[in-house]
Amino acid sequence: MQADIIVTASLPPFLAEPLKADYRCHDYTKAPDPAALLAREGANIRGLVQGGGTVTPPALLDALPKLEIISVFGVGYDGVPTDYCRARGIKVTNTPDVLTDDVADVALGLILMTGRGFVRLNRFVHAGSWEKRGPELTTKLSGRSVGILGLGRIGKAIAERVSAMGMKVSYTGRKTQDVPYTFVPDLMQLAAAVDFLVVACPGGTGTRNMVNAKVLAALGSKGTLINIARGSIVDEPALIQALQQGVIKGAGLDVFADEPHIPAELLALEDRVVLLPHVGSATAETRKAMGDLCKANLDAWFGKGSVLTLIPELA
Ligand code: 8YV
Repeated sequence: MQADIIVTASLPPFLAEPLKADYRCHDYTKAPDPAALLAREGANIRGLVQGGGTVTPPALLDALPKLEIISVFGVGYDGVPTDYCRARGIKVTNTPDVLTDDVADVALGLILMTGRGFVRLNRFVHAGSWEKRGPELTTKLSGRSVGILGLGRIGKAIAERVSAMGMKVSYTGRKTQDVPYTFVPDLMQLAAAVDFLVVACPGGTGTRNMVNAKVLAALGSKGTLINIARGSIVDEPALIQALQQGVIKGAGLDVFADEPHIPAELLALEDRVVLLPHVGSATAETRKAMGDLCKANLDAWFGKGSVLTLIPELA
């Protein structure tokens, strides 16, 4: 008998279709009356599929008394109440590794786009300005320093890429690691020391607004903030103020506090910021691999009673 699962995010067809083939899927996002759906089907539901950025409130899980597994289509699971899931014995899985390279590529791209002014220069060419004057000079990246907040899988992949460009890498995080990069115990100290501060740690309550006005002041007018992790980690109003007042040099952002809404003040800072629509993992190959892993976790659970990529907090 097919297990009932609830889907709380809009999924691409290459995941939604195989799920529909093997499970009785209930689409929470498209339900005309979500409360009625929960009242009708909640007691049968054994699995939940959500996106990396989807927030799953405990109140929703309360309506699913037989829930056994949450399979996240994404590496980040900051929207999952993990303590609640531990207490109820609900397994939580995510999609690590398969997206590491793509997300690291985006960080590298943002460093290149901000440091070398590629977005501005692209606009310059399209506007026909090159006919009238030469392009601006930008910043040599080789020899500059990159500070990584959170040296996990993605942070390490970013470190490898920028090292290959001759940039110097230091990092901060919970612990020193056996890596050829300099550990700096304190975020303020790291920000003060580097030209690019790259946010690559998990989101959630433990890191909320960690990059605040003080950290941005330490980064200073030599510094550019890059964020490929979660918007919640950066105090966005403080970032806007720091950019407007020239406290920091610029920012390259793939993630925001309230996606897809981006504050008008940030959009207005056209020459100082490069903004991307959360595309870290957004390649056809990687999203397919994420979809396959997301479903494989459900299949393993309902087929064999084990999962492939349990989140570390529940291991
Ligand atoms: C995706 C992400 O946008 O993996 C994550 O945590 O933020 C991104 O890869 C998202 O998870 C797609 O649902």
